[in-house]
Amino acid sequence: MRSGPRLPIRLMLIPALLLAATMGIAACDNSSQTAGYPPPVVDPAAARDPGYPAPGDEASEDVDEDGADEAQTETAEDPTIVDEGSMLGGDLGGRVIRIGTDATYPPFESEEPDGAIVGFDPDLLRLLCDHAGCTAEFVATDWTGIFAALKAGEFDALMSAITILPEREENSGGLFTVPYYSIGQVIVAAADNADIAGIDDLASTEALVGVQTGTTGDTAATEGGVPEDSMQRYDTIPLAFQALLNGDLDAIVCDAPTAANYVGENPDDLRVVGEPFTTEDYGILVPDYDTELLDALNAAILALDESGDIARLAEIHGIE
Ligand code: ARG
Repeated sequence: MRSGPRLPIRLMLIPALLLAATMGIAACDNSSQTAGYPPPVVDPAAARDPGYPAPGDEASEDVDEDGADEAQTETAEDPTIVDEGSMLGGDLGGRVIRIGTDATYPPFESEEPDGAIVGFDPDLLRLLCDHAGCTAEFVATDWTGIFAALKAGEFDALMSAITILPEREENSGGLFTVPYYSIGQVIVAAADNADIAGIDDLASTEALVGVQTGTTGDTAATEGGVPEDSMQRYDTIPLAFQALLNGDLDAIVCDAPTAANYVGENPDDLRVVGEPFTTEDYGILVPDYDTELLDALNAAILALDESGDIARLAEIHGIE
């Protein structure tokens, strides 16, 4: 069964706080609108802290009243269909945003032969933009330089199955949105390799372990004890899977939905080993000065999570 985004429980308080905040603002503007509502009892400190240390999360407290209104907008039944009604609440006035992505990470982003960038991330951003009043333009860029590229002003934001990590905000001069999806790292091995049952087996043997350089798979394998000599780092995950299929690797560590994608395409040759052994949240990375974009995306993510559209989109992309 698909589990959908697993947002930290305290994050789930944010919509309640936003709603409460909106009521509070309404009370200042026009007290008659608030008749019958109890005073907000949400602890603002709890709502500000979504449950993990990324400093960018502070931004979630800044979502404005329009964003809260959007959270109550009725959503399209089919998540592939643009919800025209939600455009009414869009904050960004039709702004075109240029999104950097390493389009080599199915099912989140990959490049079609004609150059089109497809996957869960571009589809989700279309829905988010529909709420926020923007138009997204995805541009392929290398993972290795992706954070520096944001810092250099090459993009308005990065969306690339990026796990929220504080150091990535520092390296890019950016702030992450609230989480839009949660995943974990998983091991993939050859279907006929019965020796690998978990990360400890990768740490204690000479098994060659492939990862995409600088990803959380790289970190998870390294911190899981895989000896440096056994680490095989690749510029992209398709190159690692090619090596595994060729017999040049014993295992790969990557995001579980991406692992499932490749195993699904090669069911006779590959298998997922056990369950994910990390818990990570994806976020969109926005330059720290662009609070307008950050706030609009945060409001849209919360609304589409609440409505179940993100979970439905994951299902459409076969993401569990
Ligand atoms: N979630 C992992 C990370 O943030 C892997 C992301 C890789 N994304 C990509 N488009 N190549 O490190």
